[in-house]
Amino acid sequence: MAEPTTISNPIPNLSLPLQDRVAVVTGGSRGIGRAIAIHLASLGANLVINYTSNSAQADLVATQINDTSSTTPRAVTVQADISDPTQVKSLFDAAESAFHSPLHILVNSAGVLDPKYPSILNTTIEDFDKTFTVNTRGAFLCCKEAANRLKRGGGGRIICLTSSTVASLRLGFGAYVASKAAVEAMVKILAKELKGTGITANCVAPGPIATEMFFAGKTEEMVKMVVEECPLSRLGQTEDVAPVVGFLASDAGEWVNGQIVRVNGGYV
Ligand SMILES: NC(=O)c1ccc[n+]([C@@H]2O[C@H](COP(=O)([O-])OP(=O)(O)OC[C@H]3O[C@@H](n4cnc5c(N)ncnc54)[C@H](OP(=O)(O)O)[C@@H]3O)[C@@H](O)[C@H]2O)c1
Repeated sequence: MAEPTTISNPIPNLSLPLQDRVAVVTGGSRGIGRAIAIHLASLGANLVINYTSNSAQADLVATQINDTSSTTPRAVTVQADISDPTQVKSLFDAAESAFHSPLHILVNSAGVLDPKYPSILNTTIEDFDKTFTVNTRGAFLCCKEAANRLKRGGGGRIICLTSSTVASLRLGFGAYVASKAAVEAMVKILAKELKGTGITANCVAPGPIATEMFFAGKTEEMVKMVVEECPLSRLGQTEDVAPVVGFLASDAGEWVNGQIVRVNGGYV
């Protein structure tokens, strides 16, 4: 009778798929970025939480992740405006030295939306530029830095938050949608250009998610109308988005590459 086969490749520990990996989450102080940072930490990652002005909120996220009984932090905060190339470089420098490790994951969640929801003919050049400066130039700078610096040979992940409005094309979102559509096109090309590195690049495009950005400038009536359009009759929560990012960041998500993953409850 044949000897039982020895299992040389045991089942991996799936409970902490991001153990010993380092993730940078831009815009991690609030909203969707905050939920993503906390979720990636729950999967074992060490976190670099970026913010631009809200240090108190960023500190709260880090405190929530850090284990008070341990002397080694699991999360650090780094201030940087993602639209400034020098600050983006400093962010990645700080991230590398924080955990004495190569970086594995970039999640670019920092973004802005004009709460006046102007039609294109009423959009000021200043507001157009502000939207593109943070959403498009910022994403470009973070992707460029990540493409140069993320670990090669497995585990490298670039995930940019875009928006389902690129598909729903709502009135009043002209500059915002254009700024996010540009990122979606860029990330698809980036995924191909990263051939041979093992780094994947994808976008996660949420529908309406209950954050400060969503509620800014909207009346109760406007919010109600959005909810009525949702097949699941509710707004998305930040926790509806974070697990999708967690999957893309994990080894199990490797085969999803160069894609736009819409997470919107069927909104569009
Ligand atoms: N909420 C939605 O319905 C929705 C839907 C689709 C897509 N999205 C996208 O998802 C992402 C997160 O949105 P959210 O709703 O979580 O927004 P949010 O609650 O307004 O949070 C925005 C985050 O971005 C940071 N930030 C803004 N400008 C920055 C800059 N120049 N440099 C670095 N950080 C900057 C903010 O930092 P501070 O705290 O320091 O200000 C904050 O952490 C955005 O890209 C957004 O376009 C959101």
